Amino acid sequence: MQNKQILLNSRPAGMPTTDNFRIENTVTPEPKDGEVLVRTLYLSVDPYMRSRMNDRKSYVPPFALNEVISGGVVAEVVDSRTANFQAGDIVTGMLGWRLLSVAKAEELRKVDPRLAPITTALGVLGMPGLTAYFGLLDICNPQAGETVVVSGAAGAVGTTVCQIAKIKGCRVVGIAGSDEKNAYLLNELHVDATINYKTANVKEALAAACPNGVDVYFDNVGGEISDAVLLLINKGARISICGQISMYNLERMDVGLRPQPLLLVKSAMMRGFIVIDYAPRFAEGVTQLGKWLAEGKLKYAENIIEGFENTPRAFLGLFAGENLGKQLVKV
Ligand SMILES: NC(=O)c1ccc[n+]([C@@H]2O[C@H](COP(=O)([O-])OP(=O)(O)OC[C@H]3O[C@@H](n4cnc5c(N)ncnc54)[C@H](OP(=O)(O)O)[C@@H]3O)[C@@H](O)[C@H]2O)c1
Repeated sequence: MQNKQILLNSRPAGMPTTDNFRIENTVTPEPKDGEVLVRTLYLSVDPYMRSRMNDRKSYVPPFALNEVISGGVVAEVVDSRTANFQAGDIVTGMLGWRLLSVAKAEELRKVDPRLAPITTALGVLGMPGLTAYFGLLDICNPQAGETVVVSGAAGAVGTTVCQIAKIKGCRVVGIAGSDEKNAYLLNELHVDATINYKTANVKEALAAACPNGVDVYFDNVGGEISDAVLLLINKGARISICGQISMYNLERMDVGLRPQPLLLVKSAMMRGFIVIDYAPRFAEGVTQLGKWLAEGKLKYAENIIEGFENTPRAFLGLFAGENLGKQLVKV
């Protein structure tokens, strides 16, 4: 069977380009005992992959040069040498960007196509959904009537955070980079106010959207947007540091507002987290998210690009804000 893979061709300086990736033909491996051969159906592209393109140690090791990029996939079992899976099963796991891959049984989890569309395993019922669930509820404990500000509000994590905050009875203010995205947040997800950070004066717009200040801030982007939110926090505010995408392509860290004095006088809490910290509670998260989905309380959006060769372009689109909801590649 013809196989293809995508490798890290070079490390980016600043904003990555398609030249940092290389697509090549490769052989299809044979599964051994305890392994399965899978055909990739959907690939997930995620902002954290940008950090893995640098030769710098982080919470996950960097991608090696001239090695296959890996990430979340949904795949179909083609050939199985384990009792755990059979041909035709739909599975998810962290696998290489390949058309066909061999994986060990313990690297994969079955996806039940009867429960929800299989793409949700990479989105609202997968890593981004769990990030929203634990990053908001565990860190910020939002209460009815409180004001919750969400940056990166129209992305995979942000759309879920906005809706969970609404389920909890909060006033939700979403910040996103286009009027189309903000219309979706207002009309489909029923957030209370939105700000287009590319066209508005963010400080003024935030002050107008948060007349009672900010109790909870879910930070997906960092930078000047977060500086502006910090100036409005209330006594006892909780800030969840989920992502800092505005800084991922900077070659030198910029220094912004120093938050400590604001946190001090407001007795406020700011905490970073990595979703894997919550691995022992993932089943709880997936069950609750699945229940909200089934009850119609939770919606999700997907931006699906077709074609394996377009995976690098889909990844780069995250930094240009091309996605509304979860960015996926249909192979
Ligand atoms: N802590 C964790 O474990 C964890 C897990 C998953 C994700 N994350 C983080 O959570 C954030 C969201 O992830 P996601 O998967 O849901 O991605 P996403 O929000 O679906 O996609 C990225 C979005 O970020 C926005 N963006 C890009 N460059 C920006 C900039 N310079 N300033 C402001 N916004 C910018 C774009 O939307 P606009 O059109 O609005 O600009 C883009 O659509 C990322 O920072 C990611 O690293 C953290």
